[in-house]
Amino acid sequence: MPLSQHPLFKALQQSAQHLPSLAEHFAGNRQRVQQLTFHLGDNLLVDISRQQVCTSVLQQLCELARQMNLPKAIAGLFTDNNFNPTEQRAVLHTALRMPAGATLEHKGVNVIPSVHAELARIRHFCQQVHTGKWCGYSGQPIQDVVNIGIGGSDLGPAMVCEALTPYCTTGIRTHFVSNIDPAHLATTLEPLNPATTLFVVSSKSFGTDETMSNAIAARKWLLNDCGDDSLVQLHFVAVSTNHQKVVEFGIAAENMFTFWDWVGGRFSLWSAIGLPIALAVGFERFEALLAGAHTMDEHLRTTPFEQNIPVLLALLTIWNHNILGHASEGVFPYSQLMHRFPAFLQQLNMESNGKSVMLDGTPVSHATGPIVWGDVGSNSQHAFFQLLHQGTTVVPAEFIGFVNSPYDFPAHRHKLLANMLAQAEALAFGKSAADVEAGLKAEGLSEQRISELLPSKVMPGNRPSTVILCKELTPHTLGSLIALYEHKTFVQGVLWGVNSFDQWGVELGKKLASGLVDTLAGKSNATAHSAATQNLVKQIVDWKAP
Ligand code: F6P
Repeated sequence: MPLSQHPLFKALQQSAQHLPSLAEHFAGNRQRVQQLTFHLGDNLLVDISRQQVCTSVLQQLCELARQMNLPKAIAGLFTDNNFNPTEQRAVLHTALRMPAGATLEHKGVNVIPSVHAELARIRHFCQQVHTGKWCGYSGQPIQDVVNIGIGGSDLGPAMVCEALTPYCTTGIRTHFVSNIDPAHLATTLEPLNPATTLFVVSSKSFGTDETMSNAIAARKWLLNDCGDDSLVQLHFVAVSTNHQKVVEFGIAAENMFTFWDWVGGRFSLWSAIGLPIALAVGFERFEALLAGAHTMDEHLRTTPFEQNIPVLLALLTIWNHNILGHASEGVFPYSQLMHRFPAFLQQLNMESNGKSVMLDGTPVSHATGPIVWGDVGSNSQHAFFQLLHQGTTVVPAEFIGFVNSPYDFPAHRHKLLANMLAQAEALAFGKSAADVEAGLKAEGLSEQRISELLPSKVMPGNRPSTVILCKELTPHTLGSLIALYEHKTFVQGVLWGVNSFDQWGVELGKKLASGLVDTLAGKSNATAHSAATQNLVKQIVDWKAP
């Protein structure tokens, strides 16, 4: 039964008609914070007390999830499944972080030994690079690693490498080139020495145009320097599922790291796609990242829904998006190192759940994926938080904070966390007209000035937010945090009844672009395209430098 037809969904819609304000929720229940704060071990907590829910609404949401077969779906994520029917693929990224010795069978074969065999190859390769046994063409050790990939073959490793900057102690600097804009490759290569640079060409399909174009250009750059085609091998490794295309490109099979078609691109950073992470932070820390994700997997698999963090966060999206009608979700890590996290989440969630048909191909009758967006605090406070506080659109916010930091400016750290706490507080409780008036009177403003200012200074409050607080941004905690969002995305997709693991919507644009490349190069005319496109093609041709 589709979500919107379910009697419990309708009951929740009724409950939403008579919602107490957040201030009333807090005033009416002294246990609220304790009841609505959930822990993962002793280094991560999630406080949803500032969401517009009470325990009975949460229970209804959990019951809805049970009745919509979520328990079976979660079990399916840890056994063989057919969760991606349009691509005829299983979805088994949880296998990538299972310990050696575990069993997860796909088509009757336990995949865990292959996962660990590939991890062993990655470990060996990292050792070779870190100890200088793997050298560039001039005999010098590798110093810079350039990952060439896009989407899931870029965002995860790029985000993790930046987030774990304090752990990047191997001496290897990582760089990420994704955009087909030549500026990306050119500016990345400009300061690098080809003799000490290693390229990791990362592409599940090994057919993505941006990646292949950048890889070909990078190979030319190297060849210009070393002058011998056979030496290029020392500077290129591949990560892919497509052996044939890797070899056709000219990368030796022994320099290819593999993964499997049951790993979706946006869920792949735990596989060989994470090679740049292991090169940057060391293999043991990469293992800690995997272990953190496995901890969250076990939490998802074994925890009752009423305390299950990814399930609860997904159910809050159902509540905020489908019942209360809030169109977007803001994610605000209070950590400069988590700068790329919102972009990573955008692919994870929006490519997964930006769907309009159910698994059986019928149109959905309810909203699916919300717009996910965000940026780091405290910067975003000085950019767009005004709209969050006083705009006409309510944006449920997720704040992510880290108590400890290896960077030794304690006063900064306190200010950073104080800002995060203050934002959640201001969004929830606002400032009433009476309080604003009293404050302005105390400042000695005239009655007239007070009445002029009052409407602009009132803060409506009652705006929902969640706080995720972690002890420190370690590889283990980051692994748990990423897996939390993967599972949140998965649970949402189950409740919406969509396939969260395909992405057909991105194909048409790719196809049209490839036709337009010929048109812009003057090899075909633009008449096959719309009048708007024809007009822009003409302008581009006119303006093109000779
Ligand atoms: O175009 C979207 C997409 O297919 C993503 O799903 C994927 O992560 C990205 O392109 C890159 O694909 P590949 O790893 O095959 O190059």
